[in-house]
Amino acid sequence: MEALQEELLQSFRNRFQRAPEVLSAAPGRLEILGNHTDYNEGFVLSAATGQKTCFAAAKAPGRICRVLDCVLKEEKEIDPDDPSGPVKGDWANYLKGAVAELSKRGAKVGAFDMTLASSVPLSAGMSSSAALEMAFCYALKELYNLSFTPGEWARIGQGVENNFMGLKTGLLDQFSSLYGKKDSLILCDFRSVEVLETVPMVPGYRIVVVNTLVKHNLVESDYNQRRKSCENACNTIRSFRPEVKALRDVSSSMLEKYKSALPVTDYRRALHVVGENERVKQGVDLLKKGDMEGFGKLLFESHESSRNHFENSCPELDALVEIAKTLPGCVGARLSGGGFGGITIHLVKEEKVEEYCKRIGTAYRMMTGKECKSVICSIGDGAESKRI
Ligand code: GLA
Repeated sequence: MEALQEELLQSFRNRFQRAPEVLSAAPGRLEILGNHTDYNEGFVLSAATGQKTCFAAAKAPGRICRVLDCVLKEEKEIDPDDPSGPVKGDWANYLKGAVAELSKRGAKVGAFDMTLASSVPLSAGMSSSAALEMAFCYALKELYNLSFTPGEWARIGQGVENNFMGLKTGLLDQFSSLYGKKDSLILCDFRSVEVLETVPMVPGYRIVVVNTLVKHNLVESDYNQRRKSCENACNTIRSFRPEVKALRDVSSSMLEKYKSALPVTDYRRALHVVGENERVKQGVDLLKKGDMEGFGKLLFESHESSRNHFENSCPELDALVEIAKTLPGCVGARLSGGGFGGITIHLVKEEKVEEYCKRIGTAYRMMTGKECKSVICSIGDGAESKRI
């Protein structure tokens, strides 16, 4: 991050002819276990990526806000009074959405000049959008002394996705970007919206993200429909069991009891979510015991459940997980994030990791005729900001 910040400071001075007042940074996230559980008030084991999005910022006179992306070499103007909605493919959408969410909450934000640089890969399943939203929010927090509770900051980012971008995502991406811990996984509870535990990664293993490069444009995907199905399943079970507020309150045995009352699709979606919540809890116990073989098996089970019950996998994701089972050094793999394309994560023994990335690329090409892209990830700390 230091190198990125240096570059940012320099480009801020060059572009705006003065020094910035604040610096902020926020990482992407890795969803390790707990798929589509966040909006069901459940549990996720996640991590913040070592890669970050950083801003340098200073207040500016007037109303017009300028943001220069030093990597894309593109500058955008944001007019906080402009009521128009998102422009397709424009990264400034996330900033405009954040300004709107802040103003809804009564936060007074004046004009600003900013430069931005990011090392979080785009469209790579690491939630570069959450990193952008949270780093931007933290720059404004520092600049304009904004104070919100930890959960509320994540809700502001979620509000950008839900209200501005039209995607009914949960809190996982923003929350992990804010509260991740270096070299650890965090156990997140999305009912109380807090980190329940920080579980150190077992040494000797690396997380590899393998991207199918199959575009998953979540806005156009079945994500919102999956969420609806989960709500339907919950509502049906609640008619028998009023204490059930979300799928988080449903155990496997309870789900089986009310199976006949549920449409088959809703039942299968719920089966995935309920199973994921249980796997997250088992996963934490196994990690604490250092049982990575056991933990890895849960990742494979999670993928099977995605494929068979939640139906958010695709042939390319399945191919990567099948290959993972045959290659030396890998203890577990699964699709990660929304699904319907995008990425898989693989838990690989450190000494095999370089070779693993080569071999999975070759095997994937042979099996599908397509290319995939591997990134060996490091786990970093959550968002930060400071006055300089
Ligand atoms: C996307 C969403 C998250 C979460 C995951 C699936 O990443 O943004 O809120 O629902 O999918 O677990």
